[in-house]
Amino acid sequence: MKELKRAVAKEALKFIEDDMIVSLGTGSTTAYFLEYLGKLIMEEELEDVYGVPTSYQARLLALEYGVPVVGLDEVDAIDIAVDGADEVDLNLNLIKGRGAALTMEKIVEYRAGTFLVLVDESKLVERLGQKMPVPIEVIPAAWRAIKEELEVFNATAELRMASKKDGPVVTENGNFLLDARFHRIDDPLDLEIELNNIPGVVENGIFADIADIVLVGTREGVKRLE
Ligand code: 5RP
Repeated sequence: MKELKRAVAKEALKFIEDDMIVSLGTGSTTAYFLEYLGKLIMEEELEDVYGVPTSYQARLLALEYGVPVVGLDEVDAIDIAVDGADEVDLNLNLIKGRGAALTMEKIVEYRAGTFLVLVDESKLVERLGQKMPVPIEVIPAAWRAIKEELEVFNATAELRMASKKDGPVVTENGNFLLDARFHRIDDPLDLEIELNNIPGVVENGIFADIADIVLVGTREGVKRLE
């Protein structure tokens, strides 16, 4: 899988041009992309490219690899967002958030001129939720109430734990995460909106209808879906 992730990360460089503002996703696939992007910038093959990190992980890697970073509030627009995903369905709807950065990811990816998704073939599913739960970022005080309210959606949810000793995972926004398994997700866009209507939910990991291009690393090479 590592080789497939590296292959899509390299392919993604073809989408980056001089003077672009690039949103930098979170996770192992985008870490490879950052490494390759930094190399091109350091070798001066790309000029005036700036990255908007979606997490401290992305920010630290960008700094390590020599990709200049700026905040979302310092730019007029994001030309392209590059990020991984945990599941991609046949209509290019996504589940994201294993890396706990889903809120900032959605904030920038929703606003990007192009949202480019990088996955290996193991992430492709017929229907969202087949393999992965849907992460839901919640205000800490509301986690138990929301967990119970999710039963209305025929879902069972678990509070994401760092470990028994360390307690719950806390996002960079200071919130908790519920990982929710739904019996069946027929309409991802509808569920995405419904979940965000629950008071105390900050954001959820369904990214319906916002991916423009998905690069899939396969044993036969990188495939492009759009
Ligand atoms: C982080 C994410 C990641 O993009 C997703 O988990 C994929 O990660 P990886 O590239 O390591 O497989 O949504 O919040």
